[in-house]
Amino acid sequence: MRWATTFATFILPLASIARPVSEYILHARDIGQTTPGSTPVLSQQAAFSGDVTQCKGYYVDHTAPSSSGGLLVYLTLLDKCSAYGNDISYLTVSVEYETSTRLHVHIYDNDIHQYQVPQYVLPRPSSDDCSQDKSDLKFEYNSNPFEFWITRKEDNAVLFDTRSKNIPTYDESIQIQGNYSNYTVLPSHPLIVEDQYLQLSSALPNGANIYGLGEVIAGTGYRRNESATVQTFWTRDVGDPVDENMYGVHPMYMEVRWDEQPKKLMSHGVFLLNSNGMDVILRDGVIEYRAIGGTFDFYFFSGPSPNDVASQYAQAVGFPQVMPEWSFGFHLCRWGYTSVNDTRTTVTRMREAGIPLEVQWNDIDWMRAYREFQFDQNYAPDEYKAFVDELHSMNQHYIPIIDAAIGYLYNDSDVFDVYSRGHELDVWMKNPDGTEYVGAVWPGFTVFPDWFNPNMQQVWTEAFYNLSQVVDFDGIWLDMNEPSSFVDGSATNSTIPIEDTTVVPPNYTPQAPPVDFPEGYWPNISGYSGNVTVNGTLTYGQNGTAPKNTALRRSYTVEIQQAKRNNGGSGSTTPDLPSYIPEIQYVDEPPYPIRNQAGRLSAKTVSPNATHYGGLQEYNVHNLWGTMEELATHNTLLDLKPGRRPFMVARSTFAGIGRKTAHWLGDNYSTFAYMKRAIQGVLQFNLFGIPMVGPDTCGFNGNTDEELCNRWIQLSAFFPFYRNHNTKLALSQEPYVWDSVRDASIKAINARYAMLPYWQTLFAKAAEYGAPPVVPLFHEFANPSYLSVDSQFLIGSSILVTPVLQPNESSVYGVFPNDNGVFWVDWWTHTRLDNSKYDNVSIDLPLGEIGVHVRSGSVLLVYDQPEYTVKETRDGGYGLLVVLDGKGYAEGDAKVDDGDSYPVTELTCLCFTASAGKLTSTPEGNYHIDGQLNTITIVGVWNRPSKVSLNGKGIDGGQIEYDESVGRVKIRDVGGNLNGEWTLEWE
Ligand SMILES: *[C@@H]1O[C@H](CO)[C@@H](O)[C@H](O)[C@H]1NC(C)=O
Ligand SMILES: *[C@@H]1O[C@H](CO)[C@@H](O)[C@H](O)[C@H]1NC(C)=O
Repeated sequence: MRWATTFATFILPLASIARPVSEYILHARDIGQTTPGSTPVLSQQAAFSGDVTQCKGYYVDHTAPSSSGGLLVYLTLLDKCSAYGNDISYLTVSVEYETSTRLHVHIYDNDIHQYQVPQYVLPRPSSDDCSQDKSDLKFEYNSNPFEFWITRKEDNAVLFDTRSKNIPTYDESIQIQGNYSNYTVLPSHPLIVEDQYLQLSSALPNGANIYGLGEVIAGTGYRRNESATVQTFWTRDVGDPVDENMYGVHPMYMEVRWDEQPKKLMSHGVFLLNSNGMDVILRDGVIEYRAIGGTFDFYFFSGPSPNDVASQYAQAVGFPQVMPEWSFGFHLCRWGYTSVNDTRTTVTRMREAGIPLEVQWNDIDWMRAYREFQFDQNYAPDEYKAFVDELHSMNQHYIPIIDAAIGYLYNDSDVFDVYSRGHELDVWMKNPDGTEYVGAVWPGFTVFPDWFNPNMQQVWTEAFYNLSQVVDFDGIWLDMNEPSSFVDGSATNSTIPIEDTTVVPPNYTPQAPPVDFPEGYWPNISGYSGNVTVNGTLTYGQNGTAPKNTALRRSYTVEIQQAKRNNGGSGSTTPDLPSYIPEIQYVDEPPYPIRNQAGRLSAKTVSPNATHYGGLQEYNVHNLWGTMEELATHNTLLDLKPGRRPFMVARSTFAGIGRKTAHWLGDNYSTFAYMKRAIQGVLQFNLFGIPMVGPDTCGFNGNTDEELCNRWIQLSAFFPFYRNHNTKLALSQEPYVWDSVRDASIKAINARYAMLPYWQTLFAKAAEYGAPPVVPLFHEFANPSYLSVDSQFLIGSSILVTPVLQPNESSVYGVFPNDNGVFWVDWWTHTRLDNSKYDNVSIDLPLGEIGVHVRSGSVLLVYDQPEYTVKETRDGGYGLLVVLDGKGYAEGDAKVDDGDSYPVTELTCLCFTASAGKLTSTPEGNYHIDGQLNTITIVGVWNRPSKVSLNGKGIDGGQIEYDESVGRVKIRDVGGNLNGEWTLEWE
């Protein structure tokens, strides 16, 4: 949950009780201009001019080869300009050809006084000692002023180009979210490196196709607005706004260019490793970085395919963790299960309704007065323990929430007094005067863990150990870890004792049900049931208006654009500190005011002047806070359950943390627009190497309705992380609430559970070499018209998902690529979709149905019989789905392990090939697969086979079913052993 939602819903006056969800109120610090202006961003400190046009950059003093075969370029400042900080006179540019596809260019101060992200948080990738000759990339530079550019040798394309003459300048501002923004004025492009301001620009092609630079919900969808974007990097607790900074920080982008000549999409990636506050601006022809500290630590990835870029990036920042198989089951949560009994009732009703429930969750209701690790009276330890044990006895799982901040006050009856223990070991973040920093979150006053403190891990693990003695949790939900604080600054310091503070912790807990409903549902006419029909009348559009999902603006209109490292387990428990602790002069109001949409840097979070162990200021490491909590929690989970895959779902993330955690897309809204936006979120985090991701299904803020929940529960069944979650007091949205949603859930969950071996395969490949499990169409099909398609997505290369994203519609246009004769068969019916003439096809999808298609030429290992839980499903053995292409050919592979061991030491890969009436399976690896192969389904056999044999032995006709309408042979009771090689033949 978040604070701003409740604020907006319950404190601001509401225009009308029955309006669709308004799309948030902007708090932009640069609003006010109504006409284009030429006001660049002002300096917040009088000592600095804010005038970057006076900066002249650096010249090359000398160069030297580096010890590893790279290049060192030594720079001297041309002229002081004091734009937004003190100019740094001497810089080093280190150029390392780390692998053939990765070039590392690090521009840093010779004194090494600027902050750099610790190895503990992001271990630097090892390099192959690649040389310039063997690299796909080439680094070149001019000496006076110093400017560099990077070329990909394969196509001679200049990928990154800091030469001023090639970069357009802009003296007039343009609009962002309806207001002219000073931040879009780009008057000149020198290299600026000051202690509190770094600026660097690169030329982009016109119509550049840019993806990434998140976490963000971009108004344009997954493809960023290359003409008008200001992306701010400052982690922030806010309910899913559009085009603003939010929970996570991933300063990485992929750019894709269409190359007419070989008709290929040529892609590359750029990652700036920097944890300081930052703005990145996109306007036609330019990308500009503006950071308020740190260094310019760039990694360039040569691609050239989009999948190559994703995997090269993951290799640099760390491959994602393999996930426990149970975590792919269906998760159910809400804020407002007020007791163990209430939660248990939900579990029971799910089973009665026959809807598979794998993981039950609780939000902050389980805590007494919302204090971490302390049990509410309605969650009494004995009863709570019995409930979680019951879940386990039924092969189900349990996840509770843990918020970032720790309640400052405690009670003698608390099971574990985390505050006092942490106080004793001195692990809480400090004020500049050395006293404990006290903010406020749900429990009222709170302190904040200092993840740099060497004792913090111990306090954290003790707290979880004590919790686990009551609640044997299977995973942890880490919320509010931007970190969120409801008050600006510390409530106390050495001169103001807490008893005398004037700061009053606000209470943002909802007091009344929300009034918002999805587009077109009017509760004042149709009542509060949320039903699709009331008394036989359709509820959609009853007040005469039929609003649609505005987030779909760009979709369905096909636009043509021209345009192995080992991360170890529970390793070090003491984060490394920098050898030099930078002291930030203007820590509260840095001269350059990043476009933090919360306002001041301290707004709704811990103040940047709060200090960590050794005197490190929050200013430099704010963006790392959540990620460091996730590192510590990962260590804790491994300590508590050694050898088992940790599972946590976290809100605030920094580059590379996919190697430890999953992520959910935060506090969204119950609207069709937000259902659509979940797709760009899932695609984004797959690019960022955090593939276990999904939204709050049916929507968090506001009330959902039957139609939206029906559509959404089916869509999310094809995202990696699948959880239904709801806010306090909103209309209930468990899938049993409406019969149609129940039926839709069962249908989608059965398909999902059948596909689990495929998901496990994709995640094993992600862990092995960074292959993204969920991708947009253009990753698989080189067609420039697919560059903006984000209303559909692919799971791996074989499954295409096409949802309905509008209210009151029962068909949808989807893109079904037909390159090289590719076609698609329906997952459920195996009917072939006719895309031979056009790749843009309308399909019928009445409520309760979603488009799921299998690509021709695929072989998928599936579970034969979806059951109530993942374990029971797995125990039921396997099936194989073969969809032959036009030439009778198909191939695929599957990676199988026990689904729970960590690290993975036993894994078997099965390779399947079907050709000319013959299907073979070849296993390789050391995991013994217990489940048998029960069923083989082959689609695309157009003559009834007269003879089918397995390893030369005829199969009884009674086991074989043939359906000539779809050309399908189904062989049952195969009894196949997947550990050996086998061949199936038909004629
Ligand atoms: C943006 O420009 C307006 C004048 O148009 C000015 O008043 C405001 O202070 C500027 N904002 C920033 C952050 O520089
Ligand atoms: C548990 O909850 C159910 C349904 O919410 C209710 O009917 C029942 O009385 C509750 N039992 C107890 C012991 O509170």
